[in-house]
Amino acid sequence: MGAVVLKNIEKLYSDTIACTDINLSINEGEFFTFLGPSGCGKTTILRLIAGFVQPSKGTIHLGNRDITNLEAEKRQVGMVFQNYALFPFMTVAENIAYGLKIQKKSKQERAERVEKYTEMVGLSGFEHRNISELSGGEQQRVALARSLAIEPKVLLLDEPLSNLDARLRDRMRSEIKSLQKKLGITTIFVTHDQTEALTMSDRVAIFEKGRCIQIGPPEEIYAYPANSFVARFVGDTNLFAADIRNGKASLSDNVTINLETPAAGRFVSIRPQDIVFSTAEDNRKNVFPARVESIQFDGISVEYSVKVDDMSFRLVILNTSTFCHEITVGADVHIAIPGKSLKILEN
Ligand SMILES: Nc1ncnc2c1ncn2[C@@H]1O[C@H](COP(=O)(O)OP(=O)(O)OP(=O)(O)O)[C@@H](O)[C@H]1O
Ligand SMILES: [Mg+2]
Repeated sequence: MGAVVLKNIEKLYSDTIACTDINLSINEGEFFTFLGPSGCGKTTILRLIAGFVQPSKGTIHLGNRDITNLEAEKRQVGMVFQNYALFPFMTVAENIAYGLKIQKKSKQERAERVEKYTEMVGLSGFEHRNISELSGGEQQRVALARSLAIEPKVLLLDEPLSNLDARLRDRMRSEIKSLQKKLGITTIFVTHDQTEALTMSDRVAIFEKGRCIQIGPPEEIYAYPANSFVARFVGDTNLFAADIRNGKASLSDNVTINLETPAAGRFVSIRPQDIVFSTAEDNRKNVFPARVESIQFDGISVEYSVKVDDMSFRLVILNTSTFCHEITVGADVHIAIPGKSLKILEN
């Protein structure tokens, strides 16, 4: 049995379905991420696991124990809230000791844990500061230390990096990840940022409108999206409705692509790095004349938007030392779309 198991979980707020039909089994020591757009039910599921709200339906197990009706304080679950929810009139040390006080730990044990976890998140020396005297990144560390101090079996992190600037976010990303591996703590991380999800997780669950759409390791979700929502949400893609039959996918009158293997479906997803520039003489299949509409340079790669008749395609080419910048806006070019790069999707 998994470390955290949700069976048929549903949560209704009067007539709003916050989440429904949720079945998840998270493994011991796993870094598991909930990824989905705003309002899809991510925070609700964390609050259900933490015990701050009760499910309308279903059960929650921690290991072999059914905790569905157990009070929050007894669950051994630590949570870092979306807005940190630190106590503004308490010092750093008082915030970190808060959960330990509720657990009626001795004064000495509280002091030891405060010292240990303040150091672990790199805030030694800040113990007596007020929360208002900390930067956003420091507050984030206090919130993390506060949830770790109770030495929970499960750590829940609700978009802990969303208020940080890009550089700090990158650093905290790897710090959280290495701390999690060091402690071996089962962690559920919530984000709407696909890069965070792909770079940090052992497995990712994709949510849409209160439902879990797909669960898998990052590479699998990226390579085999379950539907067009996942294809668009995880990684950039060219997504088209298509007429698919007899081993061919017709995206328009003039764009018909020979598939590598016959498949059935109504949509195709093509990753921008799979389409390449080509020449008319190129005898590869699936070559189409196109015009360059725009070019965006970002250092590591160059993104081109091209049109084949009225259809726009995006291509991304790595800016290696041998890369040639000869293609300009307005140029007439050819693009090749390898048949095997098409992911055929039913919906
Ligand atoms: N206490 C509540 N009362 C009524 N409706 C609620 C309550 N909490 C959440 N909801 C609704 O439930 C749905 C899911 O909300 P939730 O906070 O779980 O989304 P989320 O995925 O965490 O979104 P975000 O990325 O914006 O934080 C939303 O439609 C929200 O309006
Ligand atoms: Mg939320």
